[in-house]
Amino acid sequence: MNICIVGAGYVGLTTAAVLAELGHQVDCVDQNNYKIEQLNNGYVPIYEPGLKELIDKNNDRLTFTTSLAHSIKRASVVIICVGTPSLEDGTTDLRYLQSVTDDLPNYIDSYKTIITKSTVPPGTNEWIRARLIEKGVPPHLFAVVSNPEFLREGSAISDMLHADKIVVGLRSDDNRSLPIVQKIYDGISAPYIITSLTGAEMIKYASNAFLATKISFINEIARICDAFKVNVNDVAKGIGHDPRIGPHFLQAGLGYGGSCFPKDVKSLEQTARFKNIQPHILQAVQFVNDSQIDVYINKLRETLNDLSTKTIAVLGIAFKPNTDDTRESPAERFIRHLSKTGCIIRAYDPKAKLSSDHQANVTQTATSKEAICGADCLVIATDWAEFQQLDWREVKKWMKGNIVLDARNCLQREAIEECGLQYIGVGAG
Ligand code: UGA
Repeated sequence: MNICIVGAGYVGLTTAAVLAELGHQVDCVDQNNYKIEQLNNGYVPIYEPGLKELIDKNNDRLTFTTSLAHSIKRASVVIICVGTPSLEDGTTDLRYLQSVTDDLPNYIDSYKTIITKSTVPPGTNEWIRARLIEKGVPPHLFAVVSNPEFLREGSAISDMLHADKIVVGLRSDDNRSLPIVQKIYDGISAPYIITSLTGAEMIKYASNAFLATKISFINEIARICDAFKVNVNDVAKGIGHDPRIGPHFLQAGLGYGGSCFPKDVKSLEQTARFKNIQPHILQAVQFVNDSQIDVYINKLRETLNDLSTKTIAVLGIAFKPNTDDTRESPAERFIRHLSKTGCIIRAYDPKAKLSSDHQANVTQTATSKEAICGADCLVIATDWAEFQQLDWREVKKWMKGNIVLDARNCLQREAIEECGLQYIGVGAG
């Protein structure tokens, strides 16, 4: 099939690479000239394991371009993957999606299946359809389909190729689109969940909100565990064995971040309010997440007393391991809050870069050793595997002090203590 993907961000690029791998001819369109130039020169502008390899492998079936006109004309399917960030008030900024929708009528001269993958508030796909008709596109020339994406950064390719489900939202009178969607994903073995356009939008929001709820729940449990000197990892393991609860997304730590959970929970909250529904759980989830940083900083204060005289090595800047993405990163937020105490912070991350607006007492080092040497305290802020595999005997020699704050509950306490270091955490037993 000839497929036009609009938007070359995480979702757009991954979808483009995977659909080309499945044998389709894919045009990936973005209005950012520089990004398209980079992609055409063989440079993938984001770090995502396996993405560059998959793009290179399917080079002959993939085109990167800024020309929406040309790509839409030759495609039978258009997949919208543009960004839908948060506005100041927590609602979703739909300006990119609206702009694509307003461009489409200029190029629809044969039947198109228009699929929305961008995460959008309930009702948006119905709006796209109404807008196209309003702009003069005859209803028999197109169908709008909602097909949300559930991939995670850091494991995006595998999540898409081994999806646990394919959600397809259709209008009740649409008899044409399902076989087309099935043809697009031919080669991916996953159950189909068929629902209305708005139902599919709600599945995406409810899914992210539920996962964020699990994280805030375990973080609140960690605070209670801390008071009783109980290890929250044991509790997560214990409850996770119950198939009704499940073991995933119960890793306690600095909280959730990234470009999805914070914005989607906020947007769902605003969507509910708009319909006069009080979203109590969603509010509580965000409250716990927002206050999680302070719980860890207080822990440091209790242990180190006057932080202003200390040097602290922070390992991790990205919002999670295996990505260079720092959007809404809890690690960066932690660094920002901690720097206000006046301590010297040396941060290190294998892939992510510190934003340029940090205070002068914050610097980024090129290696973890550089960050750790002479530090009074070491903090694990992102659970990269390489931090878990540090040689703690060496670390002890490099450090001036001996405090290790495991803010991702990802280290083995015994292994740290055996090397003469003091292990601290929240709900760390
Ligand atoms: C999330 C969802 O997991 C995907 O299913 C969804 O498609 C995506 O958002 C999206 O809407 O596009 P992502 O943001 O890439 O994916 O990352 P996650 O692995 O979900 O992690 C989100 C945050 O939660 C990270 O900061 C991570 O460190 C934190 N987290 C995750 C925890 O603190 N504990 C956990 O147990 C799991």
